Amino acid sequence: MMKIAVAGTGYVGLVTGVCLAENGHSVTCVDIDEDKVALMRDGVSPIYEPGLEELMKKNMEKLHFTTDYQQAYKDADVIFIGVGTPEKKDGSANLSYVYGVAEQIAESIEKDCVVVVKSTVPIGTNDKIEEIIKSSLKNDVNVYVASNPEFLAQGSAVKDTLHASRIVVGVEEEFAGKVLREVYKGFDAPIIVTNRKSAEMIKYASNDFLALKISFINEIANLCEIIGADIEDVALGMGYDTRIGNRFLNAGIGYGGSCFPKDTKALHWLANFHDYELKTVKAAIDVNENQKLKLIKKSRKYFDSFKDLNVAVLGLTFKPGTDDLREAPTLVNIPLMLEDGANVKAWDPVGAKNFKKLHPDDVTYCETIEDTIKDADVCFIFTEWDEVKNFDLTKYAELMKTPIVLDGRNCYRLKDAAKAKVIYDSVGRESINAEEYSNC
Ligand code: UDX
Repeated sequence: MMKIAVAGTGYVGLVTGVCLAENGHSVTCVDIDEDKVALMRDGVSPIYEPGLEELMKKNMEKLHFTTDYQQAYKDADVIFIGVGTPEKKDGSANLSYVYGVAEQIAESIEKDCVVVVKSTVPIGTNDKIEEIIKSSLKNDVNVYVASNPEFLAQGSAVKDTLHASRIVVGVEEEFAGKVLREVYKGFDAPIIVTNRKSAEMIKYASNDFLALKISFINEIANLCEIIGADIEDVALGMGYDTRIGNRFLNAGIGYGGSCFPKDTKALHWLANFHDYELKTVKAAIDVNENQKLKLIKKSRKYFDSFKDLNVAVLGLTFKPGTDDLREAPTLVNIPLMLEDGANVKAWDPVGAKNFKKLHPDDVTYCETIEDTIKDADVCFIFTEWDEVKNFDLTKYAELMKTPIVLDGRNCYRLKDAAKAKVIYDSVGRESINAEEYSNC
């Protein structure tokens, strides 16, 4: 058992802390937000993440929560940095929180320790963190900095951590590698040890590759619509080639979330900084921006303006299984509809609460899909929640004023939509019953 401190209790920090406690370590999670700390002390997770709260409650004896970083860091064997690296206006990563924690570590530690950087940071940042800590150390101790990027996806964060596809460790000294192997002993995942810069690059390259894969399939989907092919069959046929793989080939209205948009821009920015143009990543970013507006563009086929239209919106979050709205397509689509005079009713099983903070008065929030679509002129599907996928298609025809369903996540089979007499337009597939209600 090791004494571990974790800085930051966002998705990365809290999930890491809880999973390390589950693995037998004594873990102190540090956050500046006193309300959050009070909640966590009561065994309540401040974020919605399946399985997290249960695991927290199970390991409360090994978990501690505090705002007192000095107390947490002073005698820790290992300190994980899991604070945010938000995007700056120019696309680069804001490292002020990470560097702030490095300063706090330097002034607090009283024994040798390994500082592990989990936050996604630009290549070279681990070196800078080491510099900051070593130049401000208050006590005569040894510090080893290791890069250990996180690959968890929201909605499956606990599983992704306990049964990770891989654990990447970037170190400059053997000792830090040895300590991290000990930390992760018992985790069901291969450990890859490399140098720090390569570890930092593995994280960006992985996320940017996945973003690129999504933008690629989205472009192929757009072309499928033009030439009359079906993207679901195309993706299926491609995915059987194990060199391509069948995952992350779901066409839709683009990627959102806290990672892909930020990490593509950050790597592109970094390359530019070194006078190198990352053309593929730039293409992924541009395609994604366009794709987010795909449904609104499609809707022009059916009406010229949203003025006085009753619009039903199903799903607000960037993906199912989370209440996170960061970079969700709804953040750009709903304001456009509202500006154009739409009456918007929205439904989301967990994300509505957060969306309401941004749009308290101009959107009506419904508890059920039925209430949302009742008397609607058009329905937009932005998130593929199971409740949407399992929703009886005939109800659109029954409850809506005009059953136009614009599906940004390909939730239904075309033949079911045809049978249900719904005017159904999705991504990369033929439109169903559209000729019955065309604006052209
Ligand atoms: C992602 C990575 O998966 C994870 O490894 C990394 O650590 C953080 O970023 P996350 O943002 O939580 O995780 O969600 P993910 O499931 O990857 O989805 C990201 C976005 O891509 C979502 O908006 C999703 O709808 C979209 N997506 C994903 C597609 O449009 N098509 C796909 O086939 C897959």
